[in-house]
Amino acid sequence: MPDKIKAAIVGGSGYAGGELFRLLLDHPHVEVTQVTSERNAATFVHFTHPNLRGRTSLQFVSAADLEPADFLFVGLPHGGAMERIDQYAGMAERIIDLSADFRLRNPDDYVRWYGKPHANPEWLGKFVYGLPELYREEIRQAQYVSGVGCNASATTLAIWPLFAEGLADAARGVVCEVKVGSSEGGNKSSDATHHPERARVMRSFAPTGHRHTAEIEQAIRLSGAQATVHLSATAIDNVRGVLATAHLFLREGVEERDVYRAYRKTYRGEPFVRIVKERTGVYRYPEPKILSGSNYADVGFEVDGESRRIVALGAIDNLMKGAAGTAVQCMNLMMGWDETTGLGFPGLHPI
Ligand SMILES: NC(=O)c1ccc[n+]([C@@H]2O[C@H](COP(=O)([O-])OP(=O)(O)OC[C@H]3O[C@@H](n4cnc5c(N)ncnc54)[C@H](OP(=O)(O)O)[C@@H]3O)[C@@H](O)[C@H]2O)c1
Repeated sequence: MPDKIKAAIVGGSGYAGGELFRLLLDHPHVEVTQVTSERNAATFVHFTHPNLRGRTSLQFVSAADLEPADFLFVGLPHGGAMERIDQYAGMAERIIDLSADFRLRNPDDYVRWYGKPHANPEWLGKFVYGLPELYREEIRQAQYVSGVGCNASATTLAIWPLFAEGLADAARGVVCEVKVGSSEGGNKSSDATHHPERARVMRSFAPTGHRHTAEIEQAIRLSGAQATVHLSATAIDNVRGVLATAHLFLREGVEERDVYRAYRKTYRGEPFVRIVKERTGVYRYPEPKILSGSNYADVGFEVDGESRRIVALGAIDNLMKGAAGTAVQCMNLMMGWDETTGLGFPGLHPI
């Protein structure tokens, strides 16, 4: 194999695609050969992603001019990849799609959660859900990997030990609130994202019916349990970051020390999941603020003694562990490289 594989990014003018390019520029085994944008074709990438000034001289190309590569990343809005997947599969041996197009196994879920049938349901079975903490071995063997919803990543990682170790009372379900920054919505503006409307918000935008609910329920089923997830999403005045606050109930007889043991066992050896639960200090629980630009997911919990309610917390940078960072982690696994390659940045403090 040559020193570096050739990778292309479709939808590279977007926030997730730009973050992916930033990471790949420092990746020792990857050369990015093409980055696509229709609106910005033939302009320098750093005009759109100014943090990359002086780091790349690439110009965007139209997707129509895409050339074969070893690895293709697709960062289009929902629906874009499912329509073109046959074409993309002819251009690269391995693909990671960041959108929701291949996350759900059951085609009927696309009708229920995304409002229309999947354009290529026969492809759903060929994709592995790209959350390494749950699907590491499958990802290693995979040719095609889907991204994971950012809110789903924060929520699933927060609650997974409780299901993996059978501690949650699944029948009582999961109630979860996610607080999210504006970059989750992508780089196209709208009335709701106009600065005077978006600045300083604490705005409920999906009190019910958030699409990532389907992914979280699907992930829980991997443990053998079935639980209904009640997800609410609130926009807050951040650019990056997700904080998931999930409420569950523990099964009768489960003690706090069992919960500790479950989190430690589940995440022992995980390179990007940290358990954050301190008695003192400012950062006692997971907080997205200090995760900007890093691939860490911080998780923690608190048990409400008598009631057996447990509050499970998960924090990530939505563009990193929620999108581009996990995509690079998955690529590393698919290529047989060290899983952490190119993902060493620990974030900033203070920020
Ligand atoms: N933002 C996040 O936090 C996040 C997290 C996890 C997953 N994701 C997923 O990742 C994907 C990209 O998200 P994003 O936030 O980067 O979105 P974004 O900022 O809106 O970027 C979308 C990209 O797709 C291109 N595009 C849009 N419509 C197109 C069309 N009809 N044909 C061809 N190209 C088109 C845009 O190119 P032009 O320059 O030509 O418009 C742009 O490069 C989405 O599916 C999203 O759900 C995002």
